[in-house]
Amino acid sequence: MGLRLRFNLILATCYLLCLGLSVVLFYQISRREAMEQLQSQIDLLRAQALSVRRYTSEEIQPLLADQSSLQFLPQTIPSFSAQTAFRNFRDFYPQFFYKEAALNPTNPADLAKDWERDIINRLRADPQLDKDVSIRTTDTGAHYTVTYPLVIKSASCLECHSTPEKAPPSMVALYGPKNGFGWKLNETIGAQIISVPMSVAESRIWRNLALFVGASAIVFLFLMALLNVMLNRYVISPVMRMAKTAEAVSMGDASVPEFEYAGSDEIASLSRSFNRMRRSLDSAMSMLDK
Ligand code: HEC
Repeated sequence: MGLRLRFNLILATCYLLCLGLSVVLFYQISRREAMEQLQSQIDLLRAQALSVRRYTSEEIQPLLADQSSLQFLPQTIPSFSAQTAFRNFRDFYPQFFYKEAALNPTNPADLAKDWERDIINRLRADPQLDKDVSIRTTDTGAHYTVTYPLVIKSASCLECHSTPEKAPPSMVALYGPKNGFGWKLNETIGAQIISVPMSVAESRIWRNLALFVGASAIVFLFLMALLNVMLNRYVISPVMRMAKTAEAVSMGDASVPEFEYAGSDEIASLSRSFNRMRRSLDSAMSMLDK
């Protein structure tokens, strides 16, 4: 195997090994960053939903309390307004998702689905958990989903959610006496579920990875080409010329000119030694001839 081939093979193997390792590392770091970005989107959406909730209970509810006792107005309920506002938000971002799901909801539309029920039960089983993070694959691709427990922290909630007798009659008239009752203080009755699509983050990870591999390949190919040129110029070509001279000398051809290689590198020192050896050989030969 020639020197050049050996060098190239060793370098290419090293490059591929390093590339593989750094691609894995790069992917993991990019993915972690993408997750952090998705989590900050979720934080933003949650803050938005909580703001709508607060606006409803602080501004709307007191205004419409009298009217709601005659004819119940769901618009005065924070959960209703937060979810309705988010439905409007989805006109702009249809892949984003927000739901206040409950195991026993007042509004049947808020009933937890299978997977939602599993998460709520997990949060109920461990009240220390402040959220549940999962990645779900749906028809529209993977979604980053964070679920926050909805815990009854205030006794005022139980005015409407303990028994139909305690609840405002106008509310029972609208929603019926069956659902959304029997909730207890400090009980996790449901969860705030927020999902954001991962497609943008994922395609960004792959694009960055492709850029990284492409850029490193260009640098590697350039360095390989440079190394080959230098190897050829400073090592292979002088060694081949020296070999040719040595071959001619060994065949008894004394007419070949001295090997010339200027410089102060190892090849130059080798060529000087070679020429010295040749001169000694020549004089030894001429002494023999006498
Ligand atoms: C005035 C009565 C009333 C009070 C007080 C009240 N709620 Fe509700 N709550 C409702 C009604 C009615 C709905 C259904 C709204 C709809 O149609 O989406 C509801 C819905 C909910 C939902 C969504 C799931 C479901 O049952 O449909 C959650 C969660 C919730 N309430 C939590 C609370 C919490 C927590 C409190 C206390 C801070 C509270 N509620 C206080 C009447 C009330």
